[in-house]
Amino acid sequence: MPLGQSDSTTYASELCDPELYQQGNPEDLWRRMHAAGPVHEGVFEGRRFHAVVSHTLISRVLKDSKGFSSEGGMRLDQNPAATSLAAGKMLIITDPPRHGRIRQIMNSVFTPRMVARVEHNMRATAVDIVDRAIEEGECDFTNVAARLPLSVICDMLGVPPEDWDFMLDRTMVAFGSDGADELAMAEAHADILSYYEDLIRRRRREPRDDVVTALVNGVIDGTELTDEEIILNCDGLISGGNETTRHATVGGFLAMLDNPDQWAMLRDDPGLLPGAVQEILRFASPAMHVLRTAVTPTRIGEHALDPGDPVALWLSAGNRDPRVFVNPDRFDITRSPNPHVAFSTGAHYCLGSALARTELTVLFEELLRRVGGAELVGAPQRTRSILIWGYDSVVVRLVTRTERWR
Ligand code: HEM
Repeated sequence: MPLGQSDSTTYASELCDPELYQQGNPEDLWRRMHAAGPVHEGVFEGRRFHAVVSHTLISRVLKDSKGFSSEGGMRLDQNPAATSLAAGKMLIITDPPRHGRIRQIMNSVFTPRMVARVEHNMRATAVDIVDRAIEEGECDFTNVAARLPLSVICDMLGVPPEDWDFMLDRTMVAFGSDGADELAMAEAHADILSYYEDLIRRRRREPRDDVVTALVNGVIDGTELTDEEIILNCDGLISGGNETTRHATVGGFLAMLDNPDQWAMLRDDPGLLPGAVQEILRFASPAMHVLRTAVTPTRIGEHALDPGDPVALWLSAGNRDPRVFVNPDRFDITRSPNPHVAFSTGAHYCLGSALARTELTVLFEELLRRVGGAELVGAPQRTRSILIWGYDSVVVRLVTRTERWR
């Protein structure tokens, strides 16, 4: 039965209700939306927008950076003042050709060699995190998963290890992960920004093999990047790579707990880990949507768009598209092929994708090696957000491999 406009609008509004992700059943909504159509029109904060749930159309829009701009912001619930300040300067909200020039500078550091270099420290951190969690017996796994991504970003940026705890504390507060109020969040963010200013000064004096040095030395069309551009792009690494990787880790761990057959299969054959990591990314899909803005009059599917119209590409729904993924709600570590869009696609394809996959691989390797089993203590608390799909708290009891699997 064809759907009327009002049904589609209801779906799009439900999709943008943060309550859905904290208390409701988003998977059920995505199933209904896929059955109803690939694109849904709705209103968010008084503004018309389109939500795309089809994997094919999501990929098509993301690959068309001439037709769809990133400079109108990368999330529906954005702060317009902060967006206009950073557009054209911060990689993720900059369009080509400048986007390609900044990306080239960042790519010079995000190399396989650099990932291999930070993997050494990453392994030591992962061993420490897992051992501490086992020792504690009962722990909040969201805290366990928090330390690795941030320490890796600090390592890439060139923050010395003695400052990692300071950065972890300030970042958890600044990005609202520990329930701080707005004033405390702003203060913590100001601390991080002034830390970057100091680090920039130090790297101008003593260059190293790190992101801050690459940005300090970065030149576009004969002009050096400004301190503001450097700071925005350092900040972009934390906002892009910290919560996402943390929630993928937690989501993957919970998926394993819910599917002990998959955990057992992985323990019997750790060679399945690369595929398992891809399935964790598809299934957990922590970056729920990305935004684009139509540049010219255009169409997506049956829908006509005017210049300036926002389009929300719902990556987590695209990763459950039954036209692309057989049995999409099943967590299957042997799924192949697995063309998930958790890292987006096109020009803005995640800069840290290799790093994030390595982090997940290293942490799950250490969990497989050390943890025999785990059980939930109470119900996991889900995050109230339309951007990040994840958990605020997941209290678990971990047991060593010498103890029994639950
Ligand atoms: C599981 C972990 C991660 C997920 C799910 C994820 C997801 C994404 C997505 C969806 C985008 C594209 C946004 C768009 O198309 O507008 C993106 C871009 C980006 N990500 Fe990630 N990310 C992850 C980890 C990381 C890490 C570890 C870093 C760096 C330390 C990072 C840095 C970035 C940057 C700088 C961009 C902007 C790229 C550009 O605009 O060219 N991400 N990420």
